[in-house]
Amino acid sequence: MVTAVITGATGGLGREYIDAILAQYPSVDVFWLIARDREALKQVAQLHTDKTVAAISLDLAQEESLHRFEQLLKEQNPEIKVLVNSAGVGKVTDFFSANLAGQLGMVDLNCRALTALTRLCLPYMLDDALVLNIASAFGFCPGPRMSVYSATKAFVISLSKALHDELRPRGIKVTAVCPGPMETDFWYVAGAPEGHSRLIDWLPKESPAQVAAGSLRAAKQGRMVYTRHILYKFYHLLSKLLPHGFLMQFTEV
Ligand SMILES: NC(=O)c1ccc[n+]([C@@H]2O[C@H](COP(=O)([O-])OP(=O)(O)OC[C@H]3O[C@@H](n4cnc5c(N)ncnc54)[C@H](OP(=O)(O)O)[C@@H]3O)[C@@H](O)[C@H]2O)c1
Repeated sequence: MVTAVITGATGGLGREYIDAILAQYPSVDVFWLIARDREALKQVAQLHTDKTVAAISLDLAQEESLHRFEQLLKEQNPEIKVLVNSAGVGKVTDFFSANLAGQLGMVDLNCRALTALTRLCLPYMLDDALVLNIASAFGFCPGPRMSVYSATKAFVISLSKALHDELRPRGIKVTAVCPGPMETDFWYVAGAPEGHSRLIDWLPKESPAQVAAGSLRAAKQGRMVYTRHILYKFYHLLSKLLPHGFLMQFTEV
């Protein structure tokens, strides 16, 4: 059974990948949807009764969840066509006053779980599989007051680029997806709802549906890094040309 695995599948961006995959890959007939909230997962699953949908409640920041996921793979032996690593959290706070457990949990989810899931899924991937790792435009340059979050997303970009090269001979395409801000629960969870940050309020918001559909097409074409919006493409270019010490004067959240 051709399978898509989506983490963060109840979130603003993650759930948009279900529709994008349905539209672009009708051959996918099984969806594994992963998040913590069991009820929210069930509600998303109920919208897609024409497909086999497994609502898998896991806290991916926990070591035991990674073992449970590995066990599930062994039991079900899926043929994975698409893996979307979208589960992620951010925190807007200065480094010293931040809650340490929260910051480390962010590293566990954004980096450790993403690395583990990609590695664990590999033996089950079809030879033309796609891996979409959700990074962020915040990963292009260090982000004061989002220091740990920015660093986790720089990790995702770097890992994805290397895997894009390493897995190409097997036909597997890996893409780092780097959206700008989107109006999802992310900013509320990050402790920066509307009105909290002039920069975030000012920046153009991306549509999660367009990011999901566009990045899936880009992954199929073998793109290493995907950024949809012209402003964030320009920012990506600036981050390669200008010293980060200079750019950071403008990127504090
Ligand atoms: N929104 C933005 O402005 C923006 C911009 C650039 C990049 N991104 C990235 O895009 C991705 C998706 O963000 P989003 O905007 O869709 O955020 P969101 O609406 O807050 O969704 C986050 C998703 O991750 C799941 N999740 C959170 N913690 C988890 C954990 N410990 N284990 C398993 N699942 C967990 C959530 O479900 P549960 O709470 O039920 O676990 C939810 O499904 C993230 O990687 C984020 O960094 C977001």
